[in-house]
Amino acid sequence: MNVHCLNSYRPGHGLPGSFYTDPEIFAEEQRRIFRNSWFFAGHSIEVAGRGDYLTLDVGGVPVVVVRDQDGELHAHHNICRHRGSLVCTKEKGRAARLVCPYHAWTYGHDGRLIGAPMMGEGFDKEAHGLKPAHVGEFDGLIFVNLSETPSPFHDLRDHLSPVLASQGMTRAKVALIRDYDLDVNWKIVVENNRECYHCEGNHHGYVSVQYDTENDNPALKGEIAERLGECRRRWERAGLDVARVNTSSNNTAEWFRANRTPVRKGMVTESPDGQLVCKVLMAGFTDPDMGTARANTNINFWCHANSDYAHTVRITPVSPTRTIVRAYWLVDENAVEGRDYDPEAIAAFHHQVMSEDWDICRRQWRGVTSPSFEPGPYAPDKEANVDRYVRWYVGRMSA
Ligand code: FES
Ligand SMILES: [Fe+2]
Repeated sequence: MNVHCLNSYRPGHGLPGSFYTDPEIFAEEQRRIFRNSWFFAGHSIEVAGRGDYLTLDVGGVPVVVVRDQDGELHAHHNICRHRGSLVCTKEKGRAARLVCPYHAWTYGHDGRLIGAPMMGEGFDKEAHGLKPAHVGEFDGLIFVNLSETPSPFHDLRDHLSPVLASQGMTRAKVALIRDYDLDVNWKIVVENNRECYHCEGNHHGYVSVQYDTENDNPALKGEIAERLGECRRRWERAGLDVARVNTSSNNTAEWFRANRTPVRKGMVTESPDGQLVCKVLMAGFTDPDMGTARANTNINFWCHANSDYAHTVRITPVSPTRTIVRAYWLVDENAVEGRDYDPEAIAAFHHQVMSEDWDICRRQWRGVTSPSFEPGPYAPDKEANVDRYVRWYVGRMSA
């Protein structure tokens, strides 16, 4: 990598402009970060049945995640061991065998090559299985890792699961998936997600429901303390983990974090008016006022799970200047579209927030890609999470 670029990084400041546009840096990120980390792949409910698969791009590598006849999940490089064709060509499907469309080499769910027409007697099928990837699953979330020596998956699971396990994402269905195709670098998207310094001026809908921007507002100090206390007691009685209940998402030094926040007094979910958008609650909740279970990773994932729906995001960097953000909205598996919910109404709140964020990202993009861009300092408190994220990033890129 262009070492000179890292030398020009000043701790406490944003990254130099080249980090957002340089193809060499992007290639290095793909290698050091995306092919060497637990990458959010999708939801367990997308591959619920035997033989169900989903395909995705992880650090430039086509990957297939497939559930076998015993219900176990496998991940493989979705690259035929013959002449390199994609094996599974659809984004999702169900297949008893994975058959390459080029010359029909056929693989089992476990990746073993079980058929290779006319390759002759001496051909060693054993040596030509699909290359494996690591896969892990908890609370309805699937992560894959292409590293040969992945970091322990339980580090991630043990931190997120106490907050997310109660949200019912294993017993959900997809209400809506929407892909946002953005002409900006992926870090512009993640950095924006790591602070609410911009919320007051840009997200009127969001701040009318959440307390993120009010932590230093003396007028709401009493209300917030009361709300936190009341929610903690009630949630604990309902069996939720209340060790991380607060009103903002302070990141840890780790590459992942999770917490639970109450929505504003009188509201129960993240919707334009703070009231339910799905009549059937997730996870068997009977009380709608369960706050928002939030989680994220520095790699490509965030989640806001409410009592009536969950919203998750998967980020896929495509090039230095292009990023695809896939947004999911999940509801309880028993909720009926049209009767209990309208997908557009479920998506309205976060679609609005994201649309506002994409406008922010595009405006910032104009500046950071210009020759005169000079990164400024982060606000000490309000942007501490962005600073932590950038320090983590620099660490990964210079290790
Ligand atoms: S490339 Fe797959 S069978 Fe030939
Ligand atoms: Fe935002």
